[in-house]
Amino acid sequence: MRIIAEQPDHAAGIEDLLDLAFGADRAVKTVYRLRAGVSPVEDLCFVAVQGDAVEGTIRYWPVTIAGRAPALLLGPIAVAEHRRSEGLGGVLIRFSLNRAWALGHRIVLLVGDAPYYQRFGFSRSRTLGLTLPGPVDLDRFLGLELMPGALDGVVGAVEPHRPSVGTPPGVRLDFLPGTGGRLIFADCRP
Ligand SMILES: CC(C)(COP(=O)(O)OP(=O)(O)OC[C@H]1O[C@@H](n2cnc3c(N)ncnc32)[C@H](O)[C@@H]1OP(=O)(O)O)[C@@H](O)C(=O)NCCC(=O)NCCS
Repeated sequence: MRIIAEQPDHAAGIEDLLDLAFGADRAVKTVYRLRAGVSPVEDLCFVAVQGDAVEGTIRYWPVTIAGRAPALLLGPIAVAEHRRSEGLGGVLIRFSLNRAWALGHRIVLLVGDAPYYQRFGFSRSRTLGLTLPGPVDLDRFLGLELMPGALDGVVGAVEPHRPSVGTPPGVRLDFLPGTGGRLIFADCRP
């Protein structure tokens, strides 16, 4: 199993995985309003592959809060049913969050199950001042600060955004808090 950057020829495998995980009608969800007409953050789209088979996918979309604070929207993430509970989802999340942090991103938002995402540091308490462009179960609207305090005093509507966060000079090689002190490299095997 390898974690590698998503390539165009992974698209069909990713769609199949997402159809199985979320259903073909997944685009009606509120988070898709934040993705419509916007490309995912290329540097943060990864697949887990076994041979040619895509067995895991994670993507992030660029958003802004109140048109000012840039943030990432995590998702979708999916792991093939026969590979679940082997740690692959956790590896995809930690690996991509490490990369996001190293690239200078400060805030990550998502809509998902708190019992799963809280182990990565996501919390509803970080999104209390934020709104989404449609209905969601607010208990599932979660945030993570990659830089402590990045969400302090940040309030307003989350909107789609074309990224302006560039790659800073050099990549930081220290560690994201909450990853157990490990920097996970691309060829990790869960
Ligand atoms: C969520 C998902 C990506 C996790 O992938 P994974 O490789 O199985 O994750 P991990 O192996 O790192 O973690 C598995 C653990 O998380 C738990 N878990 C998985 N999904 C969970 C959820 N929605 N809520 C709470 N716990 C969850 C599992 O029960 C398992 O617990 P265990 O370690 O005590 O057995 C995968 O289950 C999946 O693709 N689900 C369908 C799509 C989906 O729901 N995506 C996320 C949107 S909220």
